Amino acid sequence: MKIALAADHAGFDLKEKIRQHLAGRGIAVDDLGTHSRESVDYPDYARVVGEQVARKRADCGILVCGTGIGMAIAANKMRGIRAANVRNEAEAQLSREHNDANVLTVGGRLLDETSALSIVDRWLSTAFTGGHHQRRVDKISQLELAEMPLRQD
Ligand code: RB5
Repeated sequence: MKIALAADHAGFDLKEKIRQHLAGRGIAVDDLGTHSRESVDYPDYARVVGEQVARKRADCGILVCGTGIGMAIAANKMRGIRAANVRNEAEAQLSREHNDANVLTVGGRLLDETSALSIVDRWLSTAFTGGHHQRRVDKISQLELAEMPLRQD
């Protein structure tokens, strides 16, 4: 398994902890930045991780910003990306089981290290349930198609 990992300045410290934690578990991590606390723009980092996941150069992605919200909004603009902003282990599990989330976003300013690492571990160890959830995920994919017209009121 290979994970694409990135953060903005607000997520930098937690991103470092996540990278060390995953390395300690023997999981391959592609650290795509940022590499300091200097202010940067989170969509730039959502983009590089999203590209790695969408092109299947990584199995999944993890993004950290202050809240996880901006990273999720940005990553979900990219075709093939299902990013889930997660605040607890239950959400981590359900985002994998029901939504087949392929990018996890967390808030470096909202979560303590222990909680964040538990979320990461739960998320990585949970499989997609498939079945009727696959039909719904397929419908999400259809929403990405440019040809899909907006329905009239
Ligand atoms: C940066 O100040 C902050 O806005 C960003 O990290 C993130 O929380 C946005 O959603």
